[in-house]
Amino acid sequence: MERETSAAGPPQGARSAPVGGSAAAKPQAWGDQHPIIRVRDLTVGYGDVPLLEHVSFDVRPGEIFVILGGSGSGKSTLLKHMIGLDEPIGGSVLIDGADIVAARGDARRAILRKIGVMYQSGALFGSMTLAQNVRLPLEEYTDLTSDEIELIARMKLSLVGLALFTGHLPAEVSGGMQKRAAIARAMALDPMILFLDEPSAGLDPITSAELDALIKRLSRNLGVTFVVVTHELPSIFAIADRVIMIDRRVKGIIAEGDPRKLRTESTDPWVRQFFNREAEPQPT
Ligand SMILES: Nc1ncnc2c1ncn2[C@@H]1O[C@H](COP(=O)(O)OP(=O)(O)O)[C@@H](O)[C@H]1O
Ligand SMILES: [Mg+2]
Repeated sequence: MERETSAAGPPQGARSAPVGGSAAAKPQAWGDQHPIIRVRDLTVGYGDVPLLEHVSFDVRPGEIFVILGGSGSGKSTLLKHMIGLDEPIGGSVLIDGADIVAARGDARRAILRKIGVMYQSGALFGSMTLAQNVRLPLEEYTDLTSDEIELIARMKLSLVGLALFTGHLPAEVSGGMQKRAAIARAMALDPMILFLDEPSAGLDPITSAELDALIKRLSRNLGVTFVVVTHELPSIFAIADRVIMIDRRVKGIIAEGDPRKLRTESTDPWVRQFFNREAEPQPT
């Protein structure tokens, strides 16, 4: 958890005071055409054996970008490197033009301030209400008053449809609501980019589809860029503007683009098979 908040915001005493609402959540830079994330020649792994080698791709501002791949292919690892949590073997990750790999100190914190994260294992604190959970990054990384923080926490929770549950403990709400509260917490500091690792893991298909709808809505209404790890086909087709598919065997990207096109047009039989396996229509 300590690392979670450190990747989600600036140090104590940081000047900038996030406020809820879409107007404040749209910094100027989003209008330009440059990729908001540039991954270049990235090699990652644990110990001596790389999981991914010389990987390069861009994420465009405002899009929902999905990272796909089999279990153990390195999706979570790639995501952790994109948010500067792990040091790569080589290469660079530029967030809004600044290299998170090379940045240190204040420069690094300035980059981290632009991103919010929901980890695969990222759970809420069970002994704290939903509002208290969302307050955490604000208390840690801003000098706003308690009343201001409460207001923002409530706004974030109402953004994800939990206005009536701010005083509930995580155990008192459903799994889908817990995920939405975790997204609200990741959005507490008004990030430009939200990273979600397998947000719908463990949810039933209907709840998962509701979460997909929420992600789309936040993307459309707030202009937040999403980087989402998932391997669930209905989610991919529901939310993804573009995908990359990584593969352990080639230690790299085996497909990139619009998943609807990859399903029918990819020349790689494995990619086509992935997109056509148990493909099912979305519940509406
Ligand atoms: N901290 C770690 N130390 C060593 N090996 C790890 C660590 N984290 C993950 N791995 C290994 O790296 C591979 C990729 O893991 P991961 O990125 O979690 O895959 P995915 O998210 O695609 O399922 C797996 O074989 C996993 O066991
Ligand atoms: Mg994972």
